[in-house]
Amino acid sequence: MAAALQTNIRTVKVPATFRAVSKQSLAPFRVRCAVASPGKKRYTITLLPGDGIGPEVVSIAKNVLQQAGSLEGVEFNFREMPIGGAALDLVGVPLPEETISAAKESDAVLLGAIGGYKWDNNEKHLRPEKGLLQIRAALKVFANLRPATVLPQLVDASTLKREVAEGVDLMVVRELTGGIYFGEPRGIKTNENGEEVGFNTEVYAHEIDRIARVAFETARKRRGKLCSVDKANVLEASILWRKRVTALASEYPDVELSHMYVDNAAMQLVRDPKQFDTIVTNNIFGDILSDEASMITGSIGMLPSASLSDSGPGLFEPIHGSAPDIAGQDKANPLATILSAAMLLKYGLGEEKAAKRIEDAVLVALNNGFRTGDIYSAGTKLVGCKEMGEEVLKSVDSQVPASV
Ligand code: IPM
Ligand code: MG
Repeated sequence: MAAALQTNIRTVKVPATFRAVSKQSLAPFRVRCAVASPGKKRYTITLLPGDGIGPEVVSIAKNVLQQAGSLEGVEFNFREMPIGGAALDLVGVPLPEETISAAKESDAVLLGAIGGYKWDNNEKHLRPEKGLLQIRAALKVFANLRPATVLPQLVDASTLKREVAEGVDLMVVRELTGGIYFGEPRGIKTNENGEEVGFNTEVYAHEIDRIARVAFETARKRRGKLCSVDKANVLEASILWRKRVTALASEYPDVELSHMYVDNAAMQLVRDPKQFDTIVTNNIFGDILSDEASMITGSIGMLPSASLSDSGPGLFEPIHGSAPDIAGQDKANPLATILSAAMLLKYGLGEEKAAKRIEDAVLVALNNGFRTGDIYSAGTKLVGCKEMGEEVLKSVDSQVPASV
């Protein structure tokens, strides 16, 4: 599936995942853009650095974005806004109104990470995570694309055996604004015996068709295989999920649909991950399985994500967390955020050439042996967050992209 691209440095393999969804299939996700000057396009990007390593990785991704854009005649107007713990410290809420309006008015949103020890004991509505869930809901970004690709350069960083990990290239399509994360009723109450009871509701209705369509379209542009993951042997919400996904399959005769229970899927992902192409699943199973899939690739520090709505700005973020233990120490891996910036260009703005510059530049930096601590192996060059960013930046500059 990998295509070779000649750069002026050396030949690099570009994983198919990076090109997984074509322009046509993303038409509904296109956003507005003002023409700045003849031949130049201008977009407004809201940056939400957040907490922990978030600010470090976002500032690097911003530079890479700017550079790739300028080489392709694209200008950005960046607006940085608070979210998560940073917003709690500043104004006392995890998602200020101003951040919501800035995000809604922009063409795309790039988020770092949220959360940290400092706010761990806050009440639920004052936790940094609440800010993330609220921004997803406010932007109505129901489709979360989480690619997991084992890059040839990083096979040995995987915890799985080389023959199991090599060549893995899958996409988790996670439903992001429904299910147990948002379902009502929810709460903690005291029952008649004076005992505390915590409860949540897994509920799905029209959201199933919506996410299934995105998944079928995604699979169609990849290897044409879609596995729907549920718990239909126990949960009613999953029974309906399976029924609706099955019903829609007739509209996509070119896609081979299968179903799998989530416990089996978790096992199959480490037993034989290459059997998967596109996985579609609900909010909570997608949360869990995408973390699991990330480790096949060697490090959660490598994986980007795109969260898309029907119209309006998408939200792009690395799937790793805020890593407070290494925050501010120049140890973080910026590649997941840099690759999220590439997804922003491709899926959010339709700027495929600029996106490709970034994807290729990441591969060149890896080919040249640069590694942050999380993906380091003997014989490679250990660098910090900033130096890795500079290496990518250099390669963004030096490449002549192939036509897309
Ligand atoms: C993720 C995270 C979030 C989620 C948390 C931080 C709310 O784990 O993006 O996967 O559960 O969705
Ligand atoms: Mg998660």
